[in-house]
Amino acid sequence: MKKVSVSSLLAQKQAAQKITALTAYDASFAKLFDEQGIDILLIGDSLGMVLQGEESTLPVTIEQMAYHTRCVSKNVQHAFVMADMPFMSYATPEQAYANAAKLMAAGAQMVKLEGGEWLLETIHGLVQRSVPVCGHLGLTPQSVNVLGGFKVQGREAAKAQQLVADALALEQAGVQLLVLECVPTSLAQKVSQQLSIPVIGIGAGVHTDGQILVMHDMLGISANYMPKFSKNYLLECGDIRQAVSQYKDDVISGQFPSSAHSFE
Ligand code: KIV
Ligand code: NA
Repeated sequence: MKKVSVSSLLAQKQAAQKITALTAYDASFAKLFDEQGIDILLIGDSLGMVLQGEESTLPVTIEQMAYHTRCVSKNVQHAFVMADMPFMSYATPEQAYANAAKLMAAGAQMVKLEGGEWLLETIHGLVQRSVPVCGHLGLTPQSVNVLGGFKVQGREAAKAQQLVADALALEQAGVQLLVLECVPTSLAQKVSQQLSIPVIGIGAGVHTDGQILVMHDMLGISANYMPKFSKNYLLECGDIRQAVSQYKDDVISGQFPSSAHSFE
């Protein structure tokens, strides 16, 4: 299998072949997901919740992100490795450059930042400095205290319009991938159609160019809360490799997410 790259991901969108993604935080799971042919492995700052037992992603540090990025990237042959910039690590463009450098040195091929319009200068600067960037809109967990909880975003017409505008602006600024989290199916469909870059959804319905889940949710082993949009694939087959393979097949065939795992 050839190594996944920004160009192969774009080609997948253009050929309407769904992109499969999972979070990973360590070498063993990363290798297993890679061997099952998952396209993208995200070292998510969700590790604050599923590994560290925190109530949000806010306490996660750049050093922790770099450590887990190093763990994941070691044994990966095929998958594209993407790492989250944690809370406050990209508050200014200069901080973003210094901290993105740590994740890239640890083996990331792309960094992910949460936010819209306020990030355009930072994104443009990162891309100019040869750091590929993934955007993240909709429910942005680092803003949980501003949003007032982990809630579906973009339900009101004005908010939906703002999200589409932000997505287009991020693409213009140079992001090569976009994650859309917890938005209505129709809004995610609209964004996926309007952008030329691949859009990866989580709780965003079936019409995005790909899907991502937190690995602990997909295996039904998360310590605290199991989101409605996730599915426990381990429950069905009792084997981790088969669970991953079934998740991948369901994303590719459009069976996942069903309307039970989406919002309208
Ligand atoms: O941190 C994470 O796991 C994420 C995904 C849910 C997209 O950002
Ligand atoms: Na994240």
